[in-house]
Amino acid sequence: MTPAPSTSELAAPDFVPLWRARDHLPVLADWLWRAWGRDEGYAVAETRDWLSDLARADRRETGVVALSDGEPLGVALLCNQDLDCRKNLSPWLSSLFVQAAARNRGIGGRLVREIEQAAIERRVPTLYLYTPDQGAFYAKRGWRLVERLQLPKGEADLMCKELAGAGRQSG
Ligand SMILES: CC(C)(COP(=O)(O)OP(=O)(O)OC[C@H]1O[C@@H](n2cnc3c(N)ncnc32)[C@H](O)[C@@H]1OP(=O)(O)O)[C@@H](O)C(=O)NCCC(=O)NCCS
Repeated sequence: MTPAPSTSELAAPDFVPLWRARDHLPVLADWLWRAWGRDEGYAVAETRDWLSDLARADRRETGVVALSDGEPLGVALLCNQDLDCRKNLSPWLSSLFVQAAARNRGIGGRLVREIEQAAIERRVPTLYLYTPDQGAFYAKRGWRLVERLQLPKGEADLMCKELAGAGRQSG
């Protein structure tokens, strides 16, 4: 039997918009549901429907998927809303997730840059996110702490990034 390739042998991923990775929506939804959705009380079918909606092309909301040899390794989303207690802030980098075996290869950082670029193309001046435990990862990538939140599910950092060049893009 041929052994599975180690992560260092995997092909460099392509980064494609969510609508071009529609075939993988069930797998992506399953990741996001297990990571967050089920703890927030959603059914996996609801997470899948939400992703399907985000996967429609040419919208303000979108997503980016890392694909290697046709298989998804990671995903990140650009959403209008992500936090009930901060509905005045928009849009959000949300649902950044890289498969455990593919971590520490730069995929997460690249997904963040891809979402920032998608936001710039949509003339977004400021992008927001919240994270319970990855504040240092984002700070290293130019994100700034806005406030420490006390959420029902625990503490989290609310962070933002001002997107230089957002006002100069067309479209
Ligand atoms: C957080 C998460 C998305 C990071 O994804 P990742 O693909 O491992 O991210 P990267 O590889 O870009 O960066 C991770 C670290 O590996 C290092 N790294 C990047 N490229 C590397 C490479 N080629 N070789 C070795 N290390 C590398 C980076 O320096 C980085 O370290 P740093 O955080 O000190 O800067 C991933 O751990 C994950 O999915 N976690 C579970 C879900 C989660 O917590 N998501 C965030 C929600 S807010």
